[in-house]
Amino acid sequence: MTLETAEDLEKLKKIGYIVAKTIKLMKNSIESGMTTKELDDIGRKYLELEGAKSAPELVYNFPGATCISINESVAHGIPNSTIIRDGDMVNIDVSAELDGYFADSGSSFIVPPSNDLKKNLIKATKQALNKAIDEVKAGVFVNIIGKTIEKQARKAGFSIIRDLGSHGVGRHLHEEPKFIAPFYDKNDKRVLKEGMVITIEPFLSTGAEYVFQDRDGWTLKTDKRYITAQFEHTMVITKNKPILITVCD
Ligand code: CO
Ligand code: CO
Repeated sequence: MTLETAEDLEKLKKIGYIVAKTIKLMKNSIESGMTTKELDDIGRKYLELEGAKSAPELVYNFPGATCISINESVAHGIPNSTIIRDGDMVNIDVSAELDGYFADSGSSFIVPPSNDLKKNLIKATKQALNKAIDEVKAGVFVNIIGKTIEKQARKAGFSIIRDLGSHGVGRHLHEEPKFIAPFYDKNDKRVLKEGMVITIEPFLSTGAEYVFQDRDGWTLKTDKRYITAQFEHTMVITKNKPILITVCD
């Protein structure tokens, strides 16, 4: 969506805060030995408490309130009886709706013990997101996002999951501009406009470049050899720095 009123921004910020808080609560609850369903229930309860609806459930009939993806599962993981174990890379992606406004955010966490490779992957993915956030403003090509992510990934020695992109959000979970490539696409002539609401969500990997869908019909996976991390924020494009929406105290 493109923001038009102060009320738009206020309402978007409200759901953004709830989404960020949900991730924070879930992150702080991760414990080796718990199931992903138990972790999802913590997120669901908080969303319900705030009167927000899970966007994947609302929009796509996803079987869970949040997406929890572990190790070679990198996105759209279904909360189920899978047990979270020591050393796992856990991705929590929360998107939700309140009053007709949608926000979307995600974070990857390592269940201790960690190692240098996992720590570096987390750091590089966060950095790719932050550098891309630094580059976006009104009047700039949309493809600056992929260009920046690609550069950061290469510098850190990681691959990019090329078929998972960033996207417009706000009045729907996924809207125009659809599929913002995580790599430099010189043919993408779309331009960022003031008030535009988008996500940026790089997926960096220890070698994978594409995902495939699991037999469960939802989970997007890579080959078992690789691990992948993702960080995602929803933001509003302005003439200067974007306004980050999915933030909380
Ligand atoms: Co997301
Ligand atoms: Co998203």
